[in-house]
Amino acid sequence: MRNMITIDGPAASGKSTVGKELARRLGWRYLDSGAFYRALAWKALREEVPLNKPEALSELAKKTRINLSSSTEGLRIFVDGHDVTQAIREECVSEAASILAALPEVRRVMLGLQQEFAARGKVVAEGRDMGTVVFPDARFKFFLDAELEERARRRHRELISRGKRASLEKVKAELTERDQRDSTRDVAPLGPAEDALYVDSTHLGVGEVVDLLLHKLKCIEASQNNK
Ligand code: CDP
Repeated sequence: MRNMITIDGPAASGKSTVGKELARRLGWRYLDSGAFYRALAWKALREEVPLNKPEALSELAKKTRINLSSSTEGLRIFVDGHDVTQAIREECVSEAASILAALPEVRRVMLGLQQEFAARGKVVAEGRDMGTVVFPDARFKFFLDAELEERARRRHRELISRGKRASLEKVKAELTERDQRDSTRDVAPLGPAEDALYVDSTHLGVGEVVDLLLHKLKCIEASQNNK
């Protein structure tokens, strides 16, 4: 069993905020797997590669260099040496990421990059298929969920705080569409691993979820040690 934590869940369930904070508290590295799909989507949009051309997108995935680096200011994402940390958070990138994430060949390339990242020490990995496909042997697995209304409010707040204009209804419609696409695709659909612990964060703040996960980690550890 690999000494790592996976957190999967739908869009805006709080995985990133919780994952980063958990990694910070434990002194582990943080793997934002969605950033890989977003980075490739950013490049596809920039190079005007049509999103309905699987072969062209697979080719693009193979020739694109994606790097994640942690600094004191947080995680930074690079595509072929360009810092795209901010740019990949645009809503058009979110949608494009979800479209190309349904392609098996693209996922195969991303899986390699994500496993390579995690090969160097203890990691908190966050995404859609971390516990099910990429790290099935992870020691601690969580599925973080929240009701759609609450997730839409969180994503809306986040966009407004970044100076973006968006209506709550539109944000909600986009999340619904993306969740639907992510959960129904043939490869690595969004869903909890059989051995993941389900956490509903609808009524919990970030600190409360992190405390809860830390508590659960201790319980799981104790029960595994007693076996
Ligand atoms: O932050 P948010 O949850 O909205 O999105 P994200 O985690 O950055 O992921 C963006 C998109 O990448 C998702 O809608 C998924 O389609 C895809 N993704 C995936 O397929 N597998 C992962 N492990 C992570 C993200």
